[in-house]
Amino acid sequence: MTTPIPVPPYVPLLTHAVQIDTDTPVKTFKAWFDTYGDIFKIYLFNKTSIWVSSAALCAELSNDQKFSKSIGGALVEIRALVDDGLFTAWKEEPNWGIAHRLLTPSFKMTEVKSMFPDMMDIATQLILKWERFGPDYRLNPTEDFTRLTLDTITLCSMSFRLNSFYRDDNHPFVQAMYDFLTECGRRIRRPAISDYVFPANYNKWQGDITYMNNLAQSILDKRRQRPIDKQDLLNVMLNNKDPKTGKNMTDESIINNLITFLIAGHETTSGLLSFCVYYLIKNPETMRKAQAEVDDVLSDQQLQPEDLSKFPYLTATLRETLRLGPTIAVRQVEANEDTTIGNGKYFIKKGQRVVIHLAGVHRDKAVWGEDADEFKPERMLDGKFEALPLGAWQPFGFGSRVCIGRPFAMQEATMALAMILQKFTFELADPDYELEIMQTLTVKPKNFFIHAIPRGEVY
Ligand code: HEM
Repeated sequence: MTTPIPVPPYVPLLTHAVQIDTDTPVKTFKAWFDTYGDIFKIYLFNKTSIWVSSAALCAELSNDQKFSKSIGGALVEIRALVDDGLFTAWKEEPNWGIAHRLLTPSFKMTEVKSMFPDMMDIATQLILKWERFGPDYRLNPTEDFTRLTLDTITLCSMSFRLNSFYRDDNHPFVQAMYDFLTECGRRIRRPAISDYVFPANYNKWQGDITYMNNLAQSILDKRRQRPIDKQDLLNVMLNNKDPKTGKNMTDESIINNLITFLIAGHETTSGLLSFCVYYLIKNPETMRKAQAEVDDVLSDQQLQPEDLSKFPYLTATLRETLRLGPTIAVRQVEANEDTTIGNGKYFIKKGQRVVIHLAGVHRDKAVWGEDADEFKPERMLDGKFEALPLGAWQPFGFGSRVCIGRPFAMQEATMALAMILQKFTFELADPDYELEIMQTLTVKPKNFFIHAIPRGEVY
């Protein structure tokens, strides 16, 4: 006998759609978990989704034989831009296999290490900016980390410079992407007819799609006009053949994946670095230990590729940041067959979508203990980290659809963190600030301002 899954009260016809916080949906889901426990079911018009937030349930759902990544909700809307690109491809789409086999070797740690000079180039621009703006400047670190990560992924993957540090406002790509992703999140809570009733929303959404497609197309066109030798991701996609089928990627698939990298490859790491600075400021002892490690390794010397493996405490700090603030807050799977979860307790029908609320899973007291909400990098040091149970820590996803960019993100974030900690210490610009979240496809701190104080200077 299975147990029914709790369903929060809802208004028939409007379903649960009207109850979800428009700007920060994760707030509503957290409130439902607080009320109903580790699992509940909701209806969004004609779609049903089951939400879970325990490490044990996450582990059961991390069985690639029984569950596959589900492209539902906002991901379906995002397909209007990137179609069968790596992140949004349905499981049976052949272009996913071709792109995955072609690109996976480029994300091995050794290959990512060769991107060190390009990553250093952009990180140096951030350091120079913060040095020149000085300690009195009210700095929005999230905006500058977005400049850093967007320019880094563009330079490393396409050898193309967006030069975001040389402009006051965001690069237009960032605005178009932000508006597009926000609208994707809203579209799933509106009936399809609203495209006709509110054409302005729809037209803006289409305009953003066109802008991003044109940018990617122009990068591709310029590469064809002026080929280069460097084995960046764009050249791999243009010139290499899939080892299994012998096929090249089509132009359409290249553009879908260029845009996928631009989006998936920067928002996430920018959020990681922003949350990390927030947690370091709130935990001065951790900041001190992290700075001590950087001083031991670097002293006043410039970071070198061989230093990357010498920062176990920074690595643990980044892992702990991703535990408390997973920048992709949910992942979705669907059952390949009728099955049960919760050790046979809950029935899951074939095709049923189950959303794993990673932010909840990562604070499961059954794994992390009573201090689960506290920021303690010590629990993420090598040795302890490898011994974590399956399902306890999944900020990069799991299985065949795990994040292809994990080594890239970890190297980029470690470099940036080491470089800023070598030069600065941080204070909140608003001393009473408590973390607020802004959400699109990813989550980031909102209204977060700091002072970056050059080390050794009295402020
Ligand atoms: C997939 C998180 C950085 C490219 C994913 C998934 C997660 C994730 C959770 C799986 C999503 C799902 O199951 O639906 C993160 C985090 C990052 C990060 C937290 C940084 C801290 C990057 C970077 C890149 C990247 C730097 C590119 C250079 C991708 C791609 C996929 C993916 C292409 C889709 C893989 C597939 O389905 O085959 N990422 N990511 N990510 N990520 Fe990342």
